[in-house]
Amino acid sequence: MTELSFIHRYEPGTDPKRPPLLLLHGTGGNENDLLGLGRTISAGSALLSPRGRILENGMPRFFRRLAEGVFDEEDVRFRANELADFVGEARSAYGLEAPVAVGFSNGANIAAAMLLLRPEALAGAALLRAMVPLSDAPQADLAGKRVLMISGAMDPIIPADNAKRLAASLSASGADVQHQMLPAGHNLSQTDLSLLVKWFGLSGK
Ligand code: MLT
Repeated sequence: MTELSFIHRYEPGTDPKRPPLLLLHGTGGNENDLLGLGRTISAGSALLSPRGRILENGMPRFFRRLAEGVFDEEDVRFRANELADFVGEARSAYGLEAPVAVGFSNGANIAAAMLLLRPEALAGAALLRAMVPLSDAPQADLAGKRVLMISGAMDPIIPADNAKRLAASLSASGADVQHQMLPAGHNLSQTDLSLLVKWFGLSGK
């Protein structure tokens, strides 16, 4: 595996019409977790899957938090920039277009932060169980970027209102946001998969 600033897995794409995916795992996950999901939702896409560099009691994450749902926002900013820099490195090393992020939970939150802080790093994003990552995000220009957000109405970690606020702020920044609120909790369901497959089918370039 090419030496880059994040430990990661990379699978070359086989279908040049499919966008590369940046796969971002949840707390306690790793670079292997979402490869299967990536292959299922956008067959033929190149897959770039880094491991979060923060350890919380041994569990990898993409940024520090002070408590569940309470983020160290200075670290969110630092880590979102660091991850965007990694995406740039990987694009040069592997010859990739800007990827579409697919993030779950903590991975969705860092993807949302990247969209707001470094919009050029991503072509779009699928945010699974995301919440507002920054209380005072800059006004980003997200025109032309498609964002799918899938939230759980019964998610014990993310209040539905919080997810709705994130969707509204991404829309206000110009992104083409589709927000689905499922009768689900924090874990992914078969419906998430179906919605992802459909959304990627529509974004098939
Ligand atoms: C986070 O810390 O990003 C959210 O609370 C989601 C989680 O990882 O549990």
